[in-house]
Amino acid sequence: MDIAALPNPYDYRNPVRDASLFAGRDDELAKLRYEFGQAAPDRPSIYIAIHGRRAAGKTSLLNRAEAIAKECRVLPVRVDLVPGDATPVAFFRKLYEELTTALARQGGPDAPPGAAPAVVRRVLAGGTPPDDFPLEFPESLALSARSLGAVSEPALRADLEYFVRTLGRPIALLIDEAQLIAGDENILSILRALGGRVPGYVFVQG
Ligand SMILES: Nc1ncnc2c1ncn2[C@@H]1O[C@H](COP(=O)(O)OP(=O)(O)O)[C@@H](O)[C@H]1O
Ligand SMILES: [Mg+2]
Repeated sequence: MDIAALPNPYDYRNPVRDASLFAGRDDELAKLRYEFGQAAPDRPSIYIAIHGRRAAGKTSLLNRAEAIAKECRVLPVRVDLVPGDATPVAFFRKLYEELTTALARQGGPDAPPGAAPAVVRRVLAGGTPPDDFPLEFPESLALSARSLGAVSEPALRADLEYFVRTLGRPIALLIDEAQLIAGDENILSILRALGGRVPGYVFVQG
């Protein structure tokens, strides 16, 4: 057999998506499985950091984390950062949009009521919230964006609590390229405060 004639299943330019092409990392996968298995709406949130050089396999492992979360009935929310996301307003807007979009995609009785992504985006952009709008953070963020003020941790906390409560299961926030926010003390302190006070979340940073 001429192996040069076979298609190479490995794509060195792109992170691995397919579980059958993902090699090794048994300890890391076991750790993720354990933590997602422990997650519950009323259990304290946890943080997992995936460290590694460029091309070490962080994004590929984050892809596996997404699949493992689903197996464990944890809702995965992917947040892929780009350089423009490295300010508190931009970062929390992106996190929030990805979160509300993932929740809405659940559909059916699993989706929290009143948080349609189009409405959320309109309020984030400064639109007036509808009367029955159950969320605090979009209007609060629009105000901070306008006044260059601080992002409101209590408003974000109220909504994160609302999401887990109405969803009835835990949520994993999977943040790729997290090194982009590693130098921003404002972002990190809000994330730390949230993790310490809102139950039911798993934060994974790659
Ligand atoms: N567990 C793995 N099994 C097989 N290939 C891998 C694995 N992890 C990474 N790779 C390969 O290495 C390359 C870099 O991985 P990636 O996840 O993009 O790294 P990082 O996000 O740390 O820069 C990918 O294109 C992929 O082909
Ligand atoms: Mg990567």
